[in-house]
Amino acid sequence: MTPHIECDKDLIAPLVIMPGDPRRAKYIAEKFLTDYKLVNSVRNEDAYTGYFNGVKVTIFSSGMGNASMGIYSHELFNFYDVKAILRVGSCGSYSADVKVHDVLLIDNVYSTSNYALEYLNEDIHLIKSNEEFNKVISDTAIDLGVSVKKVNCNNVDAFYNSLNIEEIDKKYECKIVEMESFALFVNAKKCNKLASALVTVSDNLVTGEKLGAVEREKDFDEMIKLALTSIIKI
Ligand code: HPA
Repeated sequence: MTPHIECDKDLIAPLVIMPGDPRRAKYIAEKFLTDYKLVNSVRNEDAYTGYFNGVKVTIFSSGMGNASMGIYSHELFNFYDVKAILRVGSCGSYSADVKVHDVLLIDNVYSTSNYALEYLNEDIHLIKSNEEFNKVISDTAIDLGVSVKKVNCNNVDAFYNSLNIEEIDKKYECKIVEMESFALFVNAKKCNKLASALVTVSDNLVTGEKLGAVEREKDFDEMIKLALTSIIKI
């Protein structure tokens, strides 16, 4: 047990999919897993462990933001022997060419967050997802016929912020924005574990396009199938 996870170690699989929202974790378990059970509900940050194509996986909600993702991924990597975490979530787009519905694999993340300074005492603001993991995801996407673009991402602590999107895009070629991948990738680097992130565009900050709840669900299913089919090959 840890301050935030209440189950025994053997109830968490070495392979973990992390949506932000606990209701999404439930949805994924119900729709895609067999023999699943609820293994954590501290703070309603629900986690389910079950089987996908016969392989044990855990779906663990991360909550919103680097602070929350940082806690759960640290505890999973360090106290539950988790080998790989794949975040699945939504993002905003900084480009008219990166449209709502697009499924994206996060390559480099640029963040103004001081998470790495606090966690590692290293003033890192740029970090990369795991290339070996990304290759498996890209190859699996081809096999499943899912179109996935690899993009750089701007990670923010403040959803409501006054960052200059154009400047960030110009400097770091960030096409999207989200709030959890930086802490996940920093933790994975420190713990020598595997981490990556798949996201669908829910809103475009340039054109103002937004997805409704039903449309989000359909995109989400395609991304989850890709995430689960990929992670069981790790
Ligand atoms: N900002 C940060 N995170 C997000 C956004 C956004 O606009 N949309 C979806 N996740």
